[in-house]
Amino acid sequence: MTGHPPSEQALAGLHSVIGQYYTQKVEAHGPTPLGVDWPCQPTQELRFVQLLRLCDFSAPFSLNDVGCGYGALLAFLSRRHKGKKISYLGLDLSAAMITQAQQLWRKRGDAEFVVASASPRVADYSMASGIFNVKLNHSDALWTQFIETTLAAMHTTSRLGFAVNFLAPLAGGVGAPELYRVAPGFWTTYCEREFGAEVQVLDNYGMREYTLLVRAH
Ligand SMILES: C[S@@+](CC[C@H](N)C(=O)[O-])C[C@H]1O[C@@H](n2cnc3c(N)ncnc32)[C@H](O)[C@@H]1O
Repeated sequence: MTGHPPSEQALAGLHSVIGQYYTQKVEAHGPTPLGVDWPCQPTQELRFVQLLRLCDFSAPFSLNDVGCGYGALLAFLSRRHKGKKISYLGLDLSAAMITQAQQLWRKRGDAEFVVASASPRVADYSMASGIFNVKLNHSDALWTQFIETTLAAMHTTSRLGFAVNFLAPLAGGVGAPELYRVAPGFWTTYCEREFGAEVQVLDNYGMREYTLLVRAH
């Protein structure tokens, strides 16, 4: 760990603030990219393409989608990987988001959604898109602890590995204070050290962001 573990109370407070932030988004814009605070579907899906590089599509697998929003990843999988057998579990801190997802995907027997910050099941893979970007007015120290706790839960509940993305630092300055930006080395080293994992950094997909593929040894 990079510091003391956060108190349960501090983390619960943080989760509640994040949940409220995204609840407002989905209440304003519905189950759309704007409803999960993304500007558009093409870049939302470009992130999915990177995260899914972790998965071996030649065999059926199970997948935990941490911070699933309204389940846009499920729509993408159904289109891009049609016919593949994937057992999907989406989890999100925002109950309003999960209600939208359950409504949207009520006919899918291979998908489930729960309100949670850590998966109740172990899956082959876990992924999280965009959950570490908007830190609002939380301190860097608390945000770092939130990321550590979330990564630890993803590690424990993933058999083969997990994938996450981050905003990269801006070339000419710090940028908006409510956004969390960090160089790839920090969390790469952390995952190698804490989880004994093999980490691949994907940073060449044309965005000021990158994706870490964290594979269990
Ligand atoms: C930027 S949105 C992205 C949604 C979805 N991954 C996508 O790309 O369409 C982030 C979502 O993650 C949820 N979230 C953030 N941190 C979380 C955590 N630790 N556990 C579960 N959900 C989380 C938020 O409530 C929000 O719905």
